[in-house]
Formats: sequence, C-alpha cells, structure tokens
Amino acid sequence: MHAAARAYTNIALIKYWGKKDEQLILPMNSSLSLTIDAFYTETSVEPQKELHEDEVIMDGTNLSDASAAKISRFMDLVREKSASRLFARIVTRNHVPVASGFASSASGFAALSAAASRAYGIDCAKTALSRLARRGSGSASRSIYGGFVKWMKGSDDASSYAVPVDSAEWPIRLISIAVNRQIKKLSSREGMKRTVETSPFYPVWVEAGEKDLDRIEPAIRRQYLEEIGKIAEANALRMHAAMLTADPPFMYWEEGTITAMKRAIHLREQGIACYFTIDAGPNVKLLCSEKDVGHILEDLAKFFPTDALIVARPGPGVEYIDRPV
Ligand code: PMV
Repeated sequence: MHAAARAYTNIALIKYWGKKDEQLILPMNSSLSLTIDAFYTETSVEPQKELHEDEVIMDGTNLSDASAAKISRFMDLVREKSASRLFARIVTRNHVPVASGFASSASGFAALSAAASRAYGIDCAKTALSRLARRGSGSASRSIYGGFVKWMKGSDDASSYAVPVDSAEWPIRLISIAVNRQIKKLSSREGMKRTVETSPFYPVWVEAGEKDLDRIEPAIRRQYLEEIGKIAEANALRMHAAMLTADPPFMYWEEGTITAMKRAIHLREQGIACYFTIDAGPNVKLLCSEKDVGHILEDLAKFFPTDALIVARPGPGVEYIDRPV
C-alpha cells in the first residue's frame, strides 16, 4: 500500500544530549521541545515487488550515500515488525525556507515513520510512531506531536517515547537566526558520545536537566514565557559547557552565534522578553512573544541579513496526506 505523511521539525528547550543505549537510541535524560511550523518534511513510501533494495529520492535526487543506507536500516526495522519483506520506493521532500538553518532529521524520520507504518500495515498509534521515529533520530520521537512535547527517556524500547504537554495555542514565536548553513563537522551522534565519555561536567548536565524539566512544565502550563525562556537558555548553555569540557573539547559556535546571544541579552535589558537556545550547530533560535517580533527583527537586521531571519509559530503533529509528494 502507498502512504504519505507530513511532519514538522521541533526545537528542544530542554535538550537531549547523550545516549544510554546507542543501538535502541535511549537517551540519558528526558527532553522537551516545541514543534514549529516553519519547516516540514513530506514523505511517501510504496513497497514494490520489483525492487531489490530500497530506493530513496530526496528533494528530487536519488540517494546512494550513507543517508540512503541509514534510511534502509530504518526500513529494516519496519519490515521486522511487518509481515512484508518488500523493499520500498521512498520519496521525500524537505520544505524549508531558504537560509533558515533548520536541520531535517527530526521532521524527516517522523514523516518516514508515519508513512512507512501505514504502508507496511504496522501499528500507527502515536506512541508506536514516536518509538519508531526515535530509532531513526532521537529528536524525531518528539515531532509526532504538535506544540510542546516531552520525550520521556524510559528504561527500554517500550517505555521511551514522546507525549504532548501543551498545544501552545498562545502567541509564542521562535525566531531562527541562520549564522551558517554548512553541514556541521561533528555529527550530533559523535558529539554526544564524546561528551558522555569524557566531559567531567556530563553528570551535572544530566542532573540539572531533570530539574529544568520539573520547572519548565508548570511554566508552560501557566504560559509564563519569561520562566520558560530562562530555563531553556540555561539548559542550552549547560549543554554547550559540557561540549567545551569534553576531551578533546569541541565547539559549534561561531562569531555570529555570540553576536546573536548578546542581542538577546541586550533586548532583555530593554525590557523585551527574548531568550536564546542553540543546538549542535552555530545557528541561534530566539523564543519570544508575538507582540515583540517586529522590534526584535529590527534589532537583528542590523547584524544579520534579513533572509537569515525566519519567524516560526508552534506547529502541528504528524499528519497523513493523500496527494503525491
Ligand atoms: O536527534 P539528533 O540525533 O539529531 O540529536 C538532536 C540533538 C539536539 O538537537 C542538540 C538536541 C535536541 O534535543 O534536539
């Protein structure tokens, strides 16, 4: 059966950084994110008798590299759960604003999980999709849901999945500042492994992250942006501090990353609620209220090209689509 799905990317406010189980992708700590509407992936999956291997077409190009192999290994997991052994034709398209600096693995594996589960006739319940998406990329487990989402670390394959926390139907916005769009030199997989194995700060990162999570959930329920922002900013800085103290140390920041962080601090001094978060790359995301977007963009435009600034709203969860990708 042919099936297609769309999923949106998410930005973690309490980060996932470090695996307890590399094979099953079980995280060391629970994490929490906001799904956003600025970037999504659409993917269709069609099992076909004639194929001798999976065929992956991404943004119009036939993939034959490591990413095709990664997708094919993921499809093996789907086949293990299904009665079908057929290979599939997988067509995937990323809808990303030019220059946004958004990564695609979260929306990509969330969309693929939904499309493949339906195409192969396996469990399409949200929890099952979240567990499956997790096996492709940890953060993808959260893109199954819209709004604020928590990935519960769990203790095994069955108990590690995401749950919705809040629909985020309030005027919260996330401004993405694309500092550099090059592919990062050190993958999150490698970066996490090195941090877990060598940073003396790593245990502190895990412990503090759990406390952040306990504090951010009530703040989300109260729609208390300042509190959410402060917790998220401190959490991101602690993750980067753990990277800086790994052996050998590494850093994803560039000059523009620091500039963006300082603008957020400066805007706060002017009384504007605006908080940064940074993933495994140089790009910065600012959490703010809809009413302040104009003022913040005006300030940022003095330092960054306007096409590097993308404003996102909370986005929806994964959905099935019935037209070709
Ligand atoms: O899901 P991965 O393997 O791409 O790792 C994501 C890691 C961070 O983006 C830095 C944090 C997160 O929770 O999304």
